[in-house]
Amino acid sequence: MQEQLKSMEAEALAALEAVESLDALEEWRTTYLGRRGRLSQVLRGLGALPVEERPAAGQAANEVKARLDAAYEARRAALERGAKEQAFRAERVDVTLPGRPPSLGRLHIATQTLREIYAIFGQMGFEVYEAPEVESDELNFQALNIPPHHPARDMWSTFYTDREGVVLRTHTSPGQMRLMRERCPAGIRAIVPGKVYRYEQVSARYEFQLHQVEGLAVGRNIHMSDLKGVLVAFAQQMFQGTRRWRFRGSYFPFTEPSFEMDIACVLCGGGGCRVCKYSGWVEILGAGMVHPVVLQNGGYDPAAYSGFAFGMGSERITMLKYGIDDIRLFFGNDPRFLAQFG
Ligand code: PHE
Repeated sequence: MQEQLKSMEAEALAALEAVESLDALEEWRTTYLGRRGRLSQVLRGLGALPVEERPAAGQAANEVKARLDAAYEARRAALERGAKEQAFRAERVDVTLPGRPPSLGRLHIATQTLREIYAIFGQMGFEVYEAPEVESDELNFQALNIPPHHPARDMWSTFYTDREGVVLRTHTSPGQMRLMRERCPAGIRAIVPGKVYRYEQVSARYEFQLHQVEGLAVGRNIHMSDLKGVLVAFAQQMFQGTRRWRFRGSYFPFTEPSFEMDIACVLCGGGGCRVCKYSGWVEILGAGMVHPVVLQNGGYDPAAYSGFAFGMGSERITMLKYGIDDIRLFFGNDPRFLAQFG
């Protein structure tokens, strides 16, 4: 029996050496130490021994069991350690990898253009003045020399409200009147940026909401040449490389004389394309000398003061500058469009 135990122990230890996984280890334990395992088999022969040999054999068997148990525990610990190490290696985080940057927002292209416009006029000494989007009929029209039922009202498709005499401003020109009434008799050099609203069918060319930038200068000895100089300086900075422009006579009720400014089409250089409708020119703004009636409504004596005003749509400016052919993109909030700027 002692011999049997010895050879079984040697075999078990050799088999344990070859065990490489926790599953195989469990199998080994069943084979050698399980209830029907090899050790139990040997022990079953105990009863067949002469009584005086039994204690020694029993003790030897217990010692073998203790050694195999210990070997088993040691192997299990080693295998578990190995499995953990392997998992650590497989799941290791490479802390030297560059991180994934969070995506930061950016300014909307409409805002970028407005800020560019502020900077250009800022250099020429114009302050930024803000006026409300909900406006009185009086300031949006009447004080600007557009009485009720004047045919010029058709120039602006107006959102009226259910409050008598209250409209959404159709242009930033009522800002002129607010400035004059607030500042008179001081001189004025300001731009009035902001949203305006028009009752339009929305299409690639028309939006019912857009941004304008109004300009107003009031003082003594302000002339048309000042206005032209300011507008040319603006166009040259806004549309870098613009060398050709023209002033085309026009009509606005609140300026006299009135004109519109065109620049040589920035996309085709004046040769003719879809954007300039094959004329070579694109309109960028309306302007003129402040009408005497408007000066008067603002509190200024037209005999002593003069002024100029202009107004431009900033979406239109952006479209011309970047060759954007659909005004709906500005309020469409499609990140594929917005991400192209900035
Ligand atoms: N308010 C005019 C428009 O909306 C533009 C303009 C402003 C023209 C100032 C002349 C002077 O079309």
